[in-house]
Amino acid sequence: MTIGVFPTNQDLDPVRLRQAFGIFPSGVVAVAAEVDGELIGLAASSFTSVSLDPPLVSFSIANTSKTWPDLRRSSHLGVTVLAHHHDAVARQLAGPVAQRFDGIDIARSDEGAVTLTDGLALFDTTIHDEVEAGDHTIILLRLHSVQNADHSLPLVFHRSQFGLRHTA
Ligand SMILES: Cc1cc2nc3c(=O)[nH]c(=O)nc-3n(C[C@H](O)[C@H](O)[C@H](O)COP(=O)(O)O)c2cc1C
Repeated sequence: MTIGVFPTNQDLDPVRLRQAFGIFPSGVVAVAAEVDGELIGLAASSFTSVSLDPPLVSFSIANTSKTWPDLRRSSHLGVTVLAHHHDAVARQLAGPVAQRFDGIDIARSDEGAVTLTDGLALFDTTIHDEVEAGDHTIILLRLHSVQNADHSLPLVFHRSQFGLRHTA
């Protein structure tokens, strides 16, 4: 066995951090709702499962998000796990607000949760808690219904691109 020296006290600049964080692959979800008759939503790769009892998931939202202050007003939020063919949809859901749902088939619950009909898993959620976390806020969502709609491969986000990548 050899024991090397792990360097500490590095200058953790954001570019370097983003590259390091990007090495860890993730899926992508759409978080969406209808608020005051408007479809509102965004793509998020920070989604993760948290707890079975109570059933909780989370995602992190940048504190600069212009969409979140409106989205959080909805009593229920829909979360859709995107499929591998949803790369253009994910980009669209992160692009100009007015076109985010153009051409996308959605389902809406009575409480305003919006899901994509061809997603892999669909969750009806409410906000359980919001935890300040640096330049992001961790949003804990409580699940009220779950639908496993499809068995296709998921959309994977890795090294700031879709699909698994050997190098940046
Ligand atoms: C694949 C992908 C993953 C994303 N993941 C997140 C995320 O986890 N958290 C976040 O705040 N924004 C994420 N974004 C950016 C948002 O979708 C959106 O573009 C951003 O919130 C700016 O729009 P807004 O000001 O309307 O919120 C992601 C974008 C893409 C394309």
